[in-house]
Order: sequence, then C-alpha cells, then structure tokens
Amino acid sequence: MSRPKRSIIWVCVSCSAALPSVLLQAPRLPKAGETIHGYKFFIGFGGKGANQCVQAARMGAKTAMVCQVGKDFFGDNYIQNFKKNGVSIAFAKQTEKAATGAASIIVNDTGENAIVIVAGANMLLGQQELQHAQSAISRAKVLICQLEINPDASLHALRMAKENHVKTIFNPAPAIVDLHSDFYKASDIFCCNESEAELLTGMPVSSVEDASRVGLDLLQKGCGSVIVSMGPQGCVVCQSINVAPKLVPTITVTAVDTTGAGDSFIGALAFYVAHYPTMQLEEMARRANLVAAVSVQNVGTQTSFPFRKDLPAELF
Ligand SMILES: Nc1ncnc2c1ncn2[C@@H]1O[C@H](COP(=O)(O)OP(=O)(O)OP(=O)(O)O)[C@@H](O)[C@H]1O
Ligand SMILES: *[C@@H]1O[C@H](CO)[C@@H](O)[C@H](O)[C@H]1NC(C)=O
Ligand SMILES: *[C@@H]1O[C@H](CO)[C@@H](O)[C@H](O)[C@H]1NC(C)=O
Repeated sequence: MSRPKRSIIWVCVSCSAALPSVLLQAPRLPKAGETIHGYKFFIGFGGKGANQCVQAARMGAKTAMVCQVGKDFFGDNYIQNFKKNGVSIAFAKQTEKAATGAASIIVNDTGENAIVIVAGANMLLGQQELQHAQSAISRAKVLICQLEINPDASLHALRMAKENHVKTIFNPAPAIVDLHSDFYKASDIFCCNESEAELLTGMPVSSVEDASRVGLDLLQKGCGSVIVSMGPQGCVVCQSINVAPKLVPTITVTAVDTTGAGDSFIGALAFYVAHYPTMQLEEMARRANLVAAVSVQNVGTQTSFPFRKDLPAELF
C-alpha cells in the first residue's frame, strides 16, 4: 500500500465498516436444509459509512474511507467500487489476517428478509489503524461515523476529529441501548432515524412532536445539534435547547425503494458541511432531503444515489 502524501487533504472522511452484501431474491425464504430457486442475485458494496461516502463523493466531495477488508475476492471488488466512485482508498487496508466482512440477505416476495452478517476484517479496525489515518482525520472538514465497527473505534475516531476541530456527523446505527455518553458529546451533528431515537432515549417516536421531544433530549445529552429523519415527512432539526425544533419538510415523490435513503441523506449532509461551512443547518437539511428524495425514486442503495449532474443547480 502506498503511503498517502502529506499534502493531500480529504474534506470528508468516514471511519466505517466495509460490508459488501449478497442479496438474493426468492419467492419465499428457504427452510432449514432446503434448496430453492430464486430469481435475482445482486452484490452491493455497503456498510452505511461506505454508502454515505459514495453519496458525498458523487456530489463532489473529496472523500476517503477508513476501513479494513481481506485480501480476497470481496475485498478486491469492494476496493474497486470505491475507485469507480472516486472515494480515496489510501486508508482502506487489505489485511491477510481476516476475510472481508459480509452480509448475506435473502428477500421474499412480501419483502420479509433473513440476514446473516459476518464482521470479518472489520473487527480489526482499531486504534492503530485510526492512528495511521490521523493525518486524514485531523485535517478533514468533516468526519462521519456509525456503529457498524467496534464502538470504541468509532468513539476514538470522533474524539480525534473533535481534538482537531473537525466537524463530526455521528449516525448511531445500528443503535445500541447503552450507548456511551461520550458519543453525544463528540457529535457536532447527531443524525438518527425514528427507531434509533426511540431506542436511545426510551421515548416513543411516531410524530413530529415526538421527534422534537427526543431531539431536545439528545441535545441535553451533549450533542451539538440533532437531526431526526422522518422518511417522507423530511426531518426534524434541533439546534439548541432554547429554540423550538423545526420540521424541515421534503417534497412528495413516488418512492419505489427507500433502502439507503438515510445514507443518501447523511452523505449529502456531509457534502454540505464540508463545502458550505457557513450554511444554516436547516438549509443543509432541506437540501439533503432533496438529494435523498431522488434516491428513493430508484431501486437499490448506491445504485439509487444521484450524481452532481443529476441534481438541480440550486442544490449547489
Ligand atoms: N418516501 C420518501 N419520500 C421522500 N423522501 C424520503 C422518503 N423516504 C425517505 N426520504 C428521505 O430520506 C431521508 C431519510 O429517510 P428515513 O428517515 O426513512 O431514514 P432511514 O430510516 O435511515 O432510511 P433507510 O433505513 O431506509 O435507509 C428522509 O429524511 C427524507 O429526506
Ligand atoms: C415471507 O416471509 C415471511 C416471514 O417468514 C412470511 O410471513 C411470508 O408469508 C413470506 N411470504 C411469502 C410470499 O412466502
Ligand atoms: C432506522 O434505521 C435502521 C437501520 O439502522 C432500520 O433498521 C430501521 O428500520 C429504520 N427505522 C425507520 C423508522 O425507518
């Protein structure tokens, strides 16, 4: 692996899980010991962080992914996908010590699924690897983290960013009940959906009023600001415990597949934070809504994410 030159600065850096997925569509889920015929097979290059990176890069952000994959077929193709999308792989390490992590997903005709996730090489992303990426993390405009790698590693990365005055976007997904309190303090923008907000606060979230209430609760835990995404309603933005949270509505579109909408939203948000640092958070959220609204009108996750050329000039 060639060492990146000190002079290169990536505005958007993500320390995240590399989680390629194998998606199989079948009329129904197989029973134990059974072999059935399906009709569609698709390889995706997820992990939430990777999806968010790809969306930010497609909008024009100079983006780097800090992750670990194995020296195997999935690892090679995973790296290739980043290259294709203009995401830097200077910190995407291929290790001999583990196989690439992966998710196997079977979906039946009614949309029910069965999923197995193997963490693999993602388990090896720790402090040492983050230290290697220190030059990128400390000089970025924005760092994005989720909870698909070891939470200690995520928190370490967020702290590194904060120490260097790098803006942090934290997406607590998949949410865990006893999230370390320092995650809130290390988040400049804490970005979650309704079910994550519910799990983290223990408060029910099914309306804009509920989202506003949990948003204020999360602010009280120490977040700089909070965005609760609300699907077709848009999102609720909370910036201060002294200011009423605000619903930032989105446009009505015909959604064909909302998978990855949250990642499209966060990737777009990261782009705006990096490129328009003085823009109001509500305006960034309004624009990120419009980017995510494009993604729900197409099938797939990364396959549905728009490029800069597909978006109206007003968004830039
Ligand atoms: N049906 C929809 N119509 C328009 N915009 C949508 C729709 N669904 C989602 N969005 C946009 O995507 C953003 C994120 O969606 P959502 O709140 O469903 O996140 P999520 O649950 O993390 O998504 P997912 O898990 O499906 O990736 C919303 O804030 C909104 O801007
Ligand atoms: C899909 O799987 C779910 C859960 O196993 C089941 O309830 C549903 O009936 C299945 N649909 C079909 C078409 O088999
Ligand atoms: C929130 O995101 C999680 C993935 O982290 C997903 O499983 C869940 O269905 C989402 N909730 C809503 C309300 O969209």
